[in-house]
Parts: sequence; C-alpha cells; structure tokens
Amino acid sequence: MADVKLVYRCQQCGYLSTKWLGRCPECQTWHSLAEEAQSRSRRRAVGASVEIGPPPTLAEIPCDQEERWLTGMGEWDRVLGGGMIPGSMVLLAGDPGIGKSTLLLQALARWGQNRKVLYVSGEESPQQIRLRADRLELDGGKIQVMAETSLEPILDTLQRHPVDILALDSIQTVSSRNLEVAPGSISQVRECAGQLMRLAKERAIGILVVGHVTKDGAIAGPRALEHLVDAVLYLEGDRTHAFRILRAVKNRYGSTNEIGVFEMKEGGLDEVPNPSRLLLAERPVGVSGSVVVCSVEGTRPLLVELQALVSGSGWVQPRRTSMGVDANRLSLLLAVMEKKLGFNFSQQDVFVNVAGGVRLVEPAADLAMMTALMSSTLDQPVPPGLVVWGEVGLAGEVRGVTHGALRVAEAIKLGFEQHLIPRSNADRLPADLTTGCMGMRSLREVLDSVFPSSGM
Ligand SMILES: Nc1ncnc2c1ncn2[C@@H]1O[C@H](COP(=O)(O)OP(=O)(O)OP(=O)(O)O)[C@@H](O)[C@H]1O
Ligand SMILES: [Mg+2]
Repeated sequence: MADVKLVYRCQQCGYLSTKWLGRCPECQTWHSLAEEAQSRSRRRAVGASVEIGPPPTLAEIPCDQEERWLTGMGEWDRVLGGGMIPGSMVLLAGDPGIGKSTLLLQALARWGQNRKVLYVSGEESPQQIRLRADRLELDGGKIQVMAETSLEPILDTLQRHPVDILALDSIQTVSSRNLEVAPGSISQVRECAGQLMRLAKERAIGILVVGHVTKDGAIAGPRALEHLVDAVLYLEGDRTHAFRILRAVKNRYGSTNEIGVFEMKEGGLDEVPNPSRLLLAERPVGVSGSVVVCSVEGTRPLLVELQALVSGSGWVQPRRTSMGVDANRLSLLLAVMEKKLGFNFSQQDVFVNVAGGVRLVEPAADLAMMTALMSSTLDQPVPPGLVVWGEVGLAGEVRGVTHGALRVAEAIKLGFEQHLIPRSNADRLPADLTTGCMGMRSLREVLDSVFPSSGM
C-alpha cells in the first residue's frame, strides 16, 4: 500500500492535483475531480528511461487477420464496415422514437445465435424487452438481459460473466459512482463511455451504446462522445414516413457516409436492398417541379425524387422552406439562379422537398434542385426518363462530383435513358455508359438543353 499514492484527476480535462479541489483550476468545472490511485514504483520506472527499449516498428507489430462478427442483416453489416470488430465501441444515435431499440434488438438477436450477448437497458424493464422481441418475432432467446443504470454493477457482471457483445440502451441513463453529477450530463456520459471503451479494448468485447440526440441535434450535449468511440451511426428518418436511413458519420474500421436503408413495419425494421425502386414508386410523371437525382451515400447510389414548388408570395418576406436539403444551400442556389440566369424569386415563395423523408447531404444534389426550381417556375415538366446530378458553383459553373460511373449505372438499371451531368464526369465515363449522357459546363447550358423554349 505504501507504493500507492492518491491523486485527484479532473474528469473533464484530465488536470491532475495532489489534493482535492472543489473546482478544477484548468477548466473551471465544479466537482469534477475524482480520486485516483497512482503507483509510485510505476512513476519511477517511467523516469528510468535506460530500462526501456525502443517502441516497436509497424512491421514488428503482430497483425492477425481482422475478425468481424456478422449479423446477416446486409444493410446493418455494411454500415458497420463489414461487421462488428471485437474490441470496438459503436454509438447508435437518433431522435427519440425513431427505432434505435428496435434495430438494436434485431441485430442482437442475430448475433446471439452464435455469440454471448448482454443487453443492458436503463430505459426499459426486462419484461418490456421480452415483449418487444416477441412482437418482432425475433429468435433472441439466448440474449442475456439486465435492467441497470449504475455502471459499476454492469462492469462487475461483465467481470464475472464475460460476453462477446454488450449493448447499452442508453448511455444517457447510466451513471458512474466516481462522479457525483446527474446521469446524462456531459461528464457522466464521458466517464461511462471512457470506462466502457477501456473495457472493450482490454477484453475484446464489441460494445454498442445507444445515444439520444438532444434538442440541438448533438448527442448528450455537444457531441461529447463522437471523438471517443470507434464508429458513430445515426438512425435518421421522418417519423411520418416508413423509411429509416442508418448512416455512418464516423468509422475507424470502414467507410463513413455509408448508409443502410430500412423500412419500419409492424414486425420491425425491414432491410430495403433496392431503395431506389421503392423511393421512386410514387413519382408523378410529366409534372413540373419534379426531378430525379442520383445521390451516392458512402458506396451506395440512391435515386430519389426532388420536388420544388415556386409560387407567388403574399408575404413581405417570401418563404424559403426546405425538407431533406440544407436551407442555406437552397438560398445560395436561388441567388445563383437570379444572378446568372435572370430568374426573380423576390416575390416568390420557394419550397423544396426530398420525397420519402430522405436527407441529401452531398452537393451533387445542387443541379437537380436547380432544375426542379426551373421546372416549377417555368411550369414545364422535365422528360420522364431524365436523371440529373452535379455540383453548382457560385459563378454558375457545373462542377464534377465523385462516383460518376456508379451513378449512371444505377440510373440505367432503373430504366432512365437521359443523364444530365457535369461535363468533367461525362468525359471520364467508360464507353459503355455514355449513351444518353449530356455533359454540362454551366447552368445556362442546362437551362437551354432542358427548357429550350423558356425565353430566359
Ligand atoms: N407495440 C408496438 N406496436 C407497433 N409498433 C410499435 C410498438 N412499439 C413501438 N412501435 C414502433 O416502433 C418505433 C420505434 O420504437 P423504438 O422503441 O425502437 O424507438 P427508440 O428510438 O428506441 O425510442 P426511444 O428514444 O424512446 O428509446 C416506434 O416509434 C413505433 O412506431
Ligand atoms: Mg429506445
């Protein structure tokens, strides 16, 4: 015991003090200093550099074939980067009621077939979880269930009864006794996540934590966890629509922006292997303001319908409403159309919507959004077999985007014959994909080719 000294470490910023302080002098947080044991002999060893050999080189580090645990749910496995890696920690975040617990239980039931799985819930009783599993008709009989909100009993249980996968629903309900602050506060969430992360790495457990997105869109405050965990998955969607998109916004073991598409049904979240077909099923043909765009999320091409409505405004300040696209981007594109093409939206309300409750984040949607705006303003529909994509710059130039061939191939697969795309992408397409492709350099060219009789 003589070899152990007590120190106090700030749980917020890591500041180390030899005595307890009510407030951290470094980050000014109250009650954030927690007791910690420090070994004297270890500190001496660190100072005695003569005994320490050089760190290993990359070539000397053993590298086993990476193991990945698959669920067999293609959409879920792909978003994880090809399955769960032992020793990794994944955050599953989303709005309340979007379907996080449902998706989690579905994945756990699959993993539970050949792995030891523990499901810890701080929000629901074991009976509620059982009822959900029955309702979803899941074969999850082997999943161990625990209703607990203190971190220490959870860690104790794992010490005594090791498992392969631990799921925690949700991180905001769990608290550690090390800190005397309320569950869900940033320091609690960080402390619990930090301890779980250590456990994951030490014992090669795959850990999944659910996180609620708070009102301002961040997880437990200002993205307190994103930098800590290995992967961050967001379950997105409009609760009034059946579609849910699982999006990897960070992944240390796979591609980010990768998406999986699900449909919420009575029996849970169903995979949608061909989402483009479903998303376009209700598209009105020959109607002005509707344009199909091909967006690529991760490695996944997605054809979706973009709708624009431009109508005379009775307001002093006309309305700009966008659903599924960024509102600032819409304002910018309207300004470019006014300046470069002579459109006038000063007396017009403008509404833009992405059908199916999908959210488009990449700039490749610019050109389609502008074509839909042109179509609605001129009240002229675009040809039914036309698909549009490309980024637009402030000078009205059409800029190339990534994955050109992938986008064209997906559109051809779904029966589209005309592709209005950036010239730089058209020039680089493989010969077998060039039929029906129109390479554009500027917005003016787009207006003249799609609406030759516009008179603008
Ligand atoms: N008994 C039920 N019958 C039919 N559908 C249900 C039932 N219970 C829940 N659902 C559907 O499942 C959806 C997702 O529920 P789930 O509990 O998985 O969401 P969640 O994201 O975990 O919510 P929370 O933030 O409250 O934990 C609900 O919005 C609802 O539409
Ligand atoms: Mg839940």
